[in-house]
Amino acid sequence: MTRGRTLDDPIELARLVPAEELGELVTSIEVALGCRLAISDRRGAPLAGAVDAGAAQHDIDHEGEPLAKLAASGANADAAIALARETLGLLVHHARARDLAAATHEAAMQVTFGELTEHNQRLQRAVARLEELDRLKSNFLATMSHELRTPLTSVIGYAEMMAEGLAGTVTPEQREYLTTILGKADQLLGLITSVLEVSSLESGQLALERSQLSLADVVASEVATFQPQAGRRGIAINLEAKGESVVIGDRRKIRQVVSSLLSNAVKFSPDRGKVGVEVRPGPLAPGEADPTAAVQLVVTDSGIGITREAVAKIFEPFYQADSSSTRAFGGTGLGLTLAKAYVEAHGGRIWVDTVPGAGSTFVATFPIRDQELRA
Ligand SMILES: Nc1ncnc2c1ncn2[C@@H]1O[C@H](COP(=O)(O)OP(=O)(O)OP(=O)(O)O)[C@@H](O)[C@H]1O
Ligand SMILES: [Mg+2]
Repeated sequence: MTRGRTLDDPIELARLVPAEELGELVTSIEVALGCRLAISDRRGAPLAGAVDAGAAQHDIDHEGEPLAKLAASGANADAAIALARETLGLLVHHARARDLAAATHEAAMQVTFGELTEHNQRLQRAVARLEELDRLKSNFLATMSHELRTPLTSVIGYAEMMAEGLAGTVTPEQREYLTTILGKADQLLGLITSVLEVSSLESGQLALERSQLSLADVVASEVATFQPQAGRRGIAINLEAKGESVVIGDRRKIRQVVSSLLSNAVKFSPDRGKVGVEVRPGPLAPGEADPTAAVQLVVTDSGIGITREAVAKIFEPFYQADSSSTRAFGGTGLGLTLAKAYVEAHGGRIWVDTVPGAGSTFVATFPIRDQELRA
């Protein structure tokens, strides 16, 4: 910021009052009084008007400092000098008031600027520290997940060998225990895998393996996987596929998106509830016009629904609508986080329409980028 003019500078009439204002002042006094009038600066340099030769110069002060020299000739010369002195005094007074306001403003700005700079530096240090912590956390999660997965794979492997009778005959009771061990170990493996995937998302490593696939086929096979567990609770899953559903994408990740939405729909539905699954062409995002821009996966349930406050957070890692739901429904709160990341990595969108107490409809879209696929 440059230093502005201050009130300590000597008074420069030419700087304080524009030339045309001085000209107008001279003309109006000359017309009013029928005389000639000239204004020069404090050193005698002419600024406006001219007088007959020999007219006397009058030094004019402003608050004790030299301001200007005035000369008048012809009729009413003394009155012209007096009037010009008064008017110049007023003009300079106003100009200096403007300068004072500007100087005050600039000083205030400099203080604020200094404070802001300091504030900014503190924030930058805090952000750097947070980024460092975040990186450490992601590294820690990735390492821990890996370290947990390795022994768990052995637990599963040995339990499977026992179940297969490789270590001798297995009694029905032992088989039942082994089934429980395998079920729980699988659950733990799933959890660890999710944590690992979220941490790799956070460190920005999400690579897609692309191939051409039919979304309807992927959805049909996932629905078949969920039928038995839904059936045990009397929940009907109704599948409908309309139109073309070929997209280019990562089969494993898309399957995980479908599985995550289906698992939630079943989990948060009451016994004998209804789950609808639809695959259809549609716009990429709500409010967009092109009806064939994407393939939409729509999963509707007649479950508990989601409150408006919770809707804003369900795609965040580890968020679950309330702590009692954690106990009642299990899970870790990573399903939707991963689903959103995978859908968006494909250039798609995911959103939800829901009414608390009545049910939810999740929509995930996958763009049909390839023009040949679209035709
Ligand atoms: N269909 C749904 N109906 C009602 N609430 C839902 C539904 N889907 C998600 N939610 C809410 O959003 C939260 C987050 O869902 P998300 O799938 O990420 O985690 P989760 O199902 O609790 O655990 P995870 O999927 O990791 O096993 C859920 O805990 C639940 O509160
Ligand atoms: Mg889930």
